[in-house]
Amino acid sequence: MFKRHRRLRSSKNIRNMIAETKLSMDDFIYPIFVIEGEDIKEEIEGLPNNHRYSVDRLNEIIDEVRKAKINAILLFGIPKEKDSIGKSAYQDNGIVQRAIKEIKKLDPNIYIITDVCMCQYTDHGHCGILNGENIDNDLTVEYLGKIALSHAKAGADMVAPSDMMDGRVDAIREILDNSGFKDIPIMGYSAKYASSFYGPFRSAANSKPSFGDRKSYQMDIANSREALSEIEEDIVQGADIVMVKPALSFLDIIAKARERFNIPIVAYNVSGEYAMIKNAGKMGIIDEKKIAMEVLISIKRAGADLIISYYALEVAKWLKEENID
Ligand code: PBG
Repeated sequence: MFKRHRRLRSSKNIRNMIAETKLSMDDFIYPIFVIEGEDIKEEIEGLPNNHRYSVDRLNEIIDEVRKAKINAILLFGIPKEKDSIGKSAYQDNGIVQRAIKEIKKLDPNIYIITDVCMCQYTDHGHCGILNGENIDNDLTVEYLGKIALSHAKAGADMVAPSDMMDGRVDAIREILDNSGFKDIPIMGYSAKYASSFYGPFRSAANSKPSFGDRKSYQMDIANSREALSEIEEDIVQGADIVMVKPALSFLDIIAKARERFNIPIVAYNVSGEYAMIKNAGKMGIIDEKKIAMEVLISIKRAGADLIISYYALEVAKWLKEENID
């Protein structure tokens, strides 16, 4: 006697009936880049099909997001002015702050999550304030609080610190609570690795460090227990949702976090992961749609509740088409 597994694989109907993991548009968060200037919609070289928008043309992408039934966006700002402390990150008329107001005007129902970090705003490109060549953790955390507060004041629905300083969730929670924003949730970029998969993003956002690397604050790719400790700590400090980033090389971390913690987990399917599939698809080496869907299903199967992906708009199109098998 042996078990005939193939009985339940014999037709599309039965396969669909027993599929454990299905993607839906409720799973997706779409990153949007907003840049200073006017009348700009420019394709991002490393992220084909994704664009940088000036505030006055955000309506174009917001229309697409609405039509794709995407609930939430993750907003990144690309400022004109950079300085040593990233001042333009927390100004009331900063690029992200103006974008939030514009998007809320265009469609108050789109859930806006903002990336809280300094690397696009500092002239040295690091995610914090320098003391010599080191990043001053505690000083940076104070500034991250200011940035998060300015986003909340502008109308952000959720803030997402991506800097990897210690104690930032605590500091952000405190300043939000003390300023009348008790109900604004925090999505912690909790297990964020010092990965080489961020390359296309850094070109897109003009946020490459001018010296050194991010290994003194982002995690060593060799470590898994440390990721669980980071996630645990963010939860203790008040994170409402925790992130594993990147997704594809860290599915083991997603799976472990899913078993251990009882709050929503988001995985960031990062720029390099997107670019690999997109470009291999363009070259005709792989079937882009099938590979992208396989990767996204694997991220969900590993345990992610939510996926941040540059593929979100295309997934909406693909889910509408039948015959994805
Ligand atoms: C900012 C930030 C980065 C990403 C998201 N937020 C870049 C980095 O840490 O260098 C990367 C996202 C991607 O690659 O898609 N700290």
